[in-house]
Amino acid sequence: MERSFIAIKPDGVQRGLVAEIIGRFEKKGFTLVGLKMMMVSRELAEQHYDVHREKPFFNGLVEFIISSPVIAMVWEGEGVVASARKIIGATNPLNSEPGTIRGDYGISIGRNLIHGSDAIETAQREISLWFKEEELATWEPSLTKWIVE
Ligand code: RTP
Ligand code: MG
Repeated sequence: MERSFIAIKPDGVQRGLVAEIIGRFEKKGFTLVGLKMMMVSRELAEQHYDVHREKPFFNGLVEFIISSPVIAMVWEGEGVVASARKIIGATNPLNSEPGTIRGDYGISIGRNLIHGSDAIETAQREISLWFKEEELATWEPSLTKWIVE
């Protein structure tokens, strides 16, 4: 079953948006299979954003991610990677549609509240970077038959 790595960034936690953000994925019908609150090490932040290492915003992005707690999650469900990106909205919150998380709650690209894997292969890499296998729960909610045909 498809899985995505989703993280509520320090601004989302500081602004008290954890329940609101988790609720959007729950209400959509996806299944939460991993969740932890953590201070992110510089090493993990740099590995996570490795593709952006040469970008001018890289250092500021890493400093931001390690500055305050993050909620790291794994969500499961059919099409969850692409669907989560739609729920999250465009990278720059001023361009994100209303109704998306970034569109409803953000203004600044460097304070865009949440991360979501951008492809299935990226999700697999990120999940193994952030979670040990035993930290993930394989389960089927009893509601599934009322959500998935
Ligand atoms: P994310 O990886 O955090 O889910 O965000 P994304 O895919 O929508 O955007 P990406 O291009 O991967 O950029 C990663 C994060 O870097 C920050 N950023 N700042 N100042 C800038 O021009 C700039 N560009 C990107 C954002 O916080 C973005 O989420
Ligand atoms: Mg990205």
